[in-house]
Amino acid sequence: MHKIDVILGLQWGDEGKGKIVDYLATGYDMVARFQGGPNAGHTLKFGGNKYVLHTVPSGIFRENLNNLIGNGVVLDPVTFQRELRNLEQSGVDFSRRLFVSRKAHLILPTHRWLDAASEAHKGKAKIGSTLKGIGPTYMDKTGRNGLRIGDVESPNFREQYEALKTKHLELLKIYAPIDFDLETAEQDWFESLATLRKLPLVDSEYFVNDALSNGKKILAEGAQGSMLDIDFGTYPFVTSSNTVTAGVCTGLGVAPQKIGRVIGITKAYCTRVGSGPFPTELDNETGELLRKEGMEFGATTGRPRRCGWIDIPQLRYTMLINGVTEICMTKIDVLNIFEEIAAATHYQYGGKTTIQLPFDLCQTDVKPLFKNYKGWNSSLDDIRNFENLPSEARAYLDELEQMLGVPIKMISTGPEREKLIVR
Ligand code: GDP
Ligand code: IMO
Ligand code: MG
Repeated sequence: MHKIDVILGLQWGDEGKGKIVDYLATGYDMVARFQGGPNAGHTLKFGGNKYVLHTVPSGIFRENLNNLIGNGVVLDPVTFQRELRNLEQSGVDFSRRLFVSRKAHLILPTHRWLDAASEAHKGKAKIGSTLKGIGPTYMDKTGRNGLRIGDVESPNFREQYEALKTKHLELLKIYAPIDFDLETAEQDWFESLATLRKLPLVDSEYFVNDALSNGKKILAEGAQGSMLDIDFGTYPFVTSSNTVTAGVCTGLGVAPQKIGRVIGITKAYCTRVGSGPFPTELDNETGELLRKEGMEFGATTGRPRRCGWIDIPQLRYTMLINGVTEICMTKIDVLNIFEEIAAATHYQYGGKTTIQLPFDLCQTDVKPLFKNYKGWNSSLDDIRNFENLPSEARAYLDELEQMLGVPIKMISTGPEREKLIVR
């Protein structure tokens, strides 16, 4: 029996998961999303084109490969339909290769409305949500009120929908009114269900475990990043699902002993979009330069991403929670222009120097301690193996690897599929 391998983000999302999943997918029989929803934006670049996926797994462009949207995902049929239409226009035949779990939860139009009303109500304290309805949908899931994909097959689906909608309309009364065209949103929503019904809906826990028993290789694709995890992230500035390896067990129905490789992805620096603590953030020209060079603007919302240096205590924390077996470092090319680069090696707070994160990064005044490294100041464009990297880049990576304690097995040197060094 094969084990299920996992790829997930070790920072605050946007580490380049889409690119790496697409690259590795050829070695697998199935790619499966296990949590999150259309708040994700995974970018793939190949053949001169760029594609952004939100709900669809990043294995969809590879032939002879199944893609599964697992039970842990929350799905908005409207954004999903839009994504599928884009795929159709790009000539991708997904009809027999894209499966959806009956146990995945549905994002209703009123979930999006609640998300927006709640954020507006929070004012300055807002999470900076993508406003895709993620929080309210997971609240209904854990509150045991949600609607699931499998419910669309039920004869009284409309009644179930109306009951939940009515409840949401009552809830909305606690917030100041905001504009929302429910009638149009509802019409689009019901129309989009037709697309969903055409896809194979599966009991995904059997689907996944049967595939494993039959010797198939599965890659689980994380969304968001570990620092946005509902339990271990910078709460309350987090998303509403478990973005860590444990989420694979609950989001796909696989047992812990079936987890194989855990590939943790980190940028060679660090970004965050939305509000919340970010110890190594550079609110200066250097941060601006990272944003410009890295083209750090959200793939889902277009918002500028906050930028800073790589943070070793933060990475060691998320590697611990995830049981990372190897690291993939992306966007190292973004550092090409810097004379000098830096990494936070320790934190200082409460009168001590430590590599441990405090209980609450929001309430603790953490001072990161940086170590500087000489930059390489040259292009990495045509480099396909580690030995050919400039000596400064190798020294930087070697030292990071030592501090992280796990091998850096992949190094990404550009957004395109082929720009990858595999060691
Ligand atoms: P994801 O959410 O983790 O899949 O990441 P996003 O797609 O949101 O953001 C990553 C961005 O960086 C995308 O625009 C990618 O095309 C781009 N990207 C990925 N890897 C690299 C890399 O190694 N170098 C550069 N310059 N860009 C990269
Ligand atoms: P991918 O998969 C980066 C952030 C939002 C916000 C917080 C909560 O592309 O890495 P939500 O919409 O979930 O209620 O937002 O989480 N966020 C992401 N940031 N990448 C993502 O996904 C994100 N998904 C959510 O910006 O701060
Ligand atoms: Mg993204």
